[in-house]
Amino acid sequence: MKIPLFDMTRQYNSFKEEVLNTLDEIFSTGKVILGPHVKSLENELAEYTGTKYAIGVANGSDALFLSVRALNIGKGDYVITTPYTFFATASCITRNGATPIFVDVEEKYYNLDLDKVEEILKNHPEKEKIKAIIPVHLFGKTIDLDRLQYFKEKYGVYIIEDGAQSIGSKWNEKNAFSVGDLSITSFFPTKNLGGYGDGGMVFTNNEDLANRVRKLRVHGAVKKYYHDEVGFNSRLDEVQAAILRIKLKHLNEYIENRINVAKKYDKLFKEYNLTDYIDYPEVFEDKSHVYHQYVITLKKGNRDELREFLTKKEIGTSIYYPKGLHQQKCFEYLRYKEGDLPVTEKATKSTLALPIFPELRDDEIEYIVKSIYEYYKK
Ligand SMILES: Cc1ncc(COP(=O)(O)O)c(C=O)c1O
Repeated sequence: MKIPLFDMTRQYNSFKEEVLNTLDEIFSTGKVILGPHVKSLENELAEYTGTKYAIGVANGSDALFLSVRALNIGKGDYVITTPYTFFATASCITRNGATPIFVDVEEKYYNLDLDKVEEILKNHPEKEKIKAIIPVHLFGKTIDLDRLQYFKEKYGVYIIEDGAQSIGSKWNEKNAFSVGDLSITSFFPTKNLGGYGDGGMVFTNNEDLANRVRKLRVHGAVKKYYHDEVGFNSRLDEVQAAILRIKLKHLNEYIENRINVAKKYDKLFKEYNLTDYIDYPEVFEDKSHVYHQYVITLKKGNRDELREFLTKKEIGTSIYYPKGLHQQKCFEYLRYKEGDLPVTEKATKSTLALPIFPELRDDEIEYIVKSIYEYYKK
């Protein structure tokens, strides 16, 4: 049985006709840049996430970059973030001239360890230069938003929630993106709300920040050809926005399906007595985890060997992430040493992402779990 890590083709038939009709309508009118679908998607996603303003941009990386820029964070400033994330979470800091402070993650969901973050906020020798924290809701698991709210109030730092992997997630009654001064998501095709190309969005409840991001995405112009500042070209594509609007109608169902996949994994790992061998995400039905990725941690055995074993069985897997950002060549100048962020470094060697997407079938999940069982019992 061949099972991909992610398969976007399975859902296409369910909305194919609607997509093709919408594309025909766009191409017939010729409104292909910042047209009505971008505006409508912004309104719909602001409503969906419970934020006041949403601004469509070219991709999630730009959404982060423009957020840092909108807060005037730059040279001489520090920003706390996680080393265990996609590169863009940190490059948005350095591309604006600021310096990241990488803080280690916790051991269960690999989100920022907020105790360690508070230690830095309290004791860093240049703590007054720490302007912001960029937490990531990694793999779809919401980080503690109450604690972030407290950091904001107590230490006067900005929060930028990186929700590239977590659209629709919650923390108790709070929606993700409710605490961030600015928050972002990505519409990269593999994401829970994925487009058919690149796309991203910035969310905020602050009108001034919303206007600044809106201006930055069109070369710093409020009125066409009148530039207040040097901005960028970073617009969400009209075609992507139109497709995303169609998919947004199904997003809650997609999330429910992902939760059901996680439930089935959980049940089968227990049935196959694998809980001494691997650790895996708990089942959360309240959307505090939207299972963008389903990442297991090996307690026994060898991650790369297991991966090879599954590849031979035609099961797609991936490693998120094989290297901590503090260990990347481009950040050598920050002078982190091996052992500085041990949880991250251990995770880079012991975690493995298994297939998860809304259309993954029960027999496929069983085949995956059975194959992991075979690896351990061979
Ligand atoms: C945590 C995180 N942040 C930022 C990004 C950047 O998003 P994009 O690929 O749309 O630029 C991604 C996704 O790729 C991501 O996973």
